[in-house]
Amino acid sequence: MSRLFTATVTENRRIIKDHYLITLHPSGKIKKPGPGTFFMLDVNTGFDPLLKRPFSLHRWLGRDFQLLYRTAGKGTYLLSKKRKGDTLEVLGPLGNGFPVRKKAKNIMLVAGGIGIAPIIGLAEALVPSKSVIKKGGMHKNLPVLFYGARTKNEILCTDDLRSLDMEPIISTDDGTLGKKGNIVNVIKRYLTAHPSRVRDSVFFACGPTPMLKALSTFAVRHKIRGYAALEEHMACGIGTCLGCVVQTSRGHKRVCREGPVFPIEEIIW
Ligand SMILES: Cc1cc2nc3c(=O)[nH]c(=O)nc-3n(C[C@H](O)[C@H](O)[C@H](O)COP(=O)(O)OP(=O)(O)OC[C@H]3O[C@@H](n4cnc5c(N)ncnc54)[C@H](O)[C@@H]3O)c2cc1C
Ligand code: FES
Repeated sequence: MSRLFTATVTENRRIIKDHYLITLHPSGKIKKPGPGTFFMLDVNTGFDPLLKRPFSLHRWLGRDFQLLYRTAGKGTYLLSKKRKGDTLEVLGPLGNGFPVRKKAKNIMLVAGGIGIAPIIGLAEALVPSKSVIKKGGMHKNLPVLFYGARTKNEILCTDDLRSLDMEPIISTDDGTLGKKGNIVNVIKRYLTAHPSRVRDSVFFACGPTPMLKALSTFAVRHKIRGYAALEEHMACGIGTCLGCVVQTSRGHKRVCREGPVFPIEEIIW
């Protein structure tokens, strides 16, 4: 059950240009959110903007939680101005989240741009940290993370990636870091070189719609299972306004209630 609560900002740090990491301390105990779930934040105490803004869980810290966000317009600009000690009304956790199965084989995590926000939390749920591995806790089938951004300066969470036993495969549109070009083409080349990974593999993805659409087309063609977290515009976040409906092969679905994570082959783009 999601609920409305007050959260106190304990940190709101600019990471790179236009990108921030906010840590929130809920007033009471909240239900533990899973990777891919989200929160609606009231970024202003007045009426402008009127609607709460949705943000994916980035990291759960036991009681506090973190969100990673990029400033896009007025709401996120106001959020970036919040300081330690400020309070916000928050609704959540909301949505279904990624269907995490630790024993799943050949997991491929795919993030585009700010889509890395929920993917890091998912990676941390799936991959033991290096310290665990050193103590002999290594498990064999580690996920592969594909992460695309426009340019080197927009690659986020590099320290987090380093602390996981996970070599990310990075691409940038301008070739300033990692492979040059879009990440879906990089995935195609990777799977051509590693055909054994195609069998029993599953994608978990979050990123811009063109990336998810291209990934979906590829996955369906090669019969690869996958799940995508969608980021439609949202008004209520609780399934009543129908503002976030998408078309799927199982009919119209509300991203805030039945999603935001959908089987990639069911989404009608
Ligand atoms: C389930 C969900 C999870 C999300 N998680 C994150 C996250 O972890 N980090 C993050 O930075 N952002 C996330 N977003 C997107 C974020 O909610 C929007 O960027 C934010 O609401 C924009 O508010 P604003 O007032 O700053 O911009 P507005 O003034 O409302 O809009 C500015 C620009 O951003 C575009 N925009 C607004 N909302 C969305 C949206 N939902 N999807 C795509 N474009 C949008 C508008 O079309 C416009 O061009 C998520 C969205 C959803 C639905
Ligand atoms: S945002 Fe209102 S139904 Fe989803």
